[in-house]
Amino acid sequence: MTALSNISFTIEAGEIFGIIGHSGAGKSTLIRCLNLLEKPTSGEVILDNIKLTQLNKKELMHERRKIGMIFQHFNLFDSQTIFNNIAFPLRLEKLSKSDIKKRVDELLELVGLTEHANKYPAQLSGGQKQRVGIARALANRPKVLLCDEATSALDPQTTQSILELLRDINQKLGLTIVLITHEMEVIRKICHKVGVIHASQIVEMGPVEEVFLNPQHYVTKEFILDNSHYDELKAHLKTSAMKDANLYQITYSGEDSYHPHLSDIIKSTGVHFSILSGNISYIRDLPYGQLLVALNGSEEAQSNALKEFSAKNIHTLAVNL
Ligand SMILES: Nc1ncnc2c1ncn2[C@@H]1O[C@H](COP(=O)(O)OP(=O)(O)OP(=O)(O)O)[C@@H](O)[C@H]1O
Ligand SMILES: [Mg+2]
Repeated sequence: MTALSNISFTIEAGEIFGIIGHSGAGKSTLIRCLNLLEKPTSGEVILDNIKLTQLNKKELMHERRKIGMIFQHFNLFDSQTIFNNIAFPLRLEKLSKSDIKKRVDELLELVGLTEHANKYPAQLSGGQKQRVGIARALANRPKVLLCDEATSALDPQTTQSILELLRDINQKLGLTIVLITHEMEVIRKICHKVGVIHASQIVEMGPVEEVFLNPQHYVTKEFILDNSHYDELKAHLKTSAMKDANLYQITYSGEDSYHPHLSDIIKSTGVHFSILSGNISYIRDLPYGQLLVALNGSEEAQSNALKEFSAKNIHTLAVNL
């Protein structure tokens, strides 16, 4: 069986690059190919102009110091203190005791765990454990941090705080971050670019704003549409006056979030809308809104309304429940 095929992409230095896909799509395999924990049968992995795929074992070990990694289940040493967990990669590098102490203290401060240095992993919450994982991954000052579902075991609030930490270190240290996730929320909150992986292939890739506003592949659309309530809606619509309406997901961003475009279009075309659901959130710092509407009216009015949306740079996506 082929786990990945025909994959080619470039990640710019300093970028937060997200890879999203369903379970079994090949995300972990792909991220493990980046540091050659998994050896691809063909192709190249190039980091900072160095072809990792052509290095011998010793050279690879050396280059791998440029790449840190964190995991869904943290992978800490349970019998070691937080201090020792973070010191581990520094001891491998044979740093002096005082240099290790200095660096670990810096890292503890960076991730906000200074008071917990002498505790053991079992005494920390999930979010705190992931902070230890991050501190340990950063110990040798890598250029790239790989995150394999780093927030998938955490509750939404803790996820938010870990994402903020990742964003912070990306900005403060200029660290390049590659993260894989099955949650579009994670991509929306911190990533600059996103690749969608499905059945061993990357099916869509681009700046997060573009992909969110104008998704092309059906898997991307599934991830972006807030479809958690579709089943209830379907049952309800069947019996309602809107059973013949056409459903659209309307997406807009930036300044458009604050303009009364909907009421303008109702006035100028004579269509009727029912708003079935809606929310305004952010793509990083860009305001971004999604509405699910039922569109009613003559065929001509509906077609004119869709044209007007498009002219106003508001994206519409037909939804079949
Ligand atoms: N070295 C390999 N050679 C061939 N197939 C592999 C290899 N490693 C993993 N696979 C298979 O590739 C598929 C993708 O696995 P992978 O763990 O990358 O998925 P994933 O997207 O990370 O899923 P999850 O969200 O469940 O973690 C699986 O069917 C797995 O069994
Ligand atoms: Mg995985």
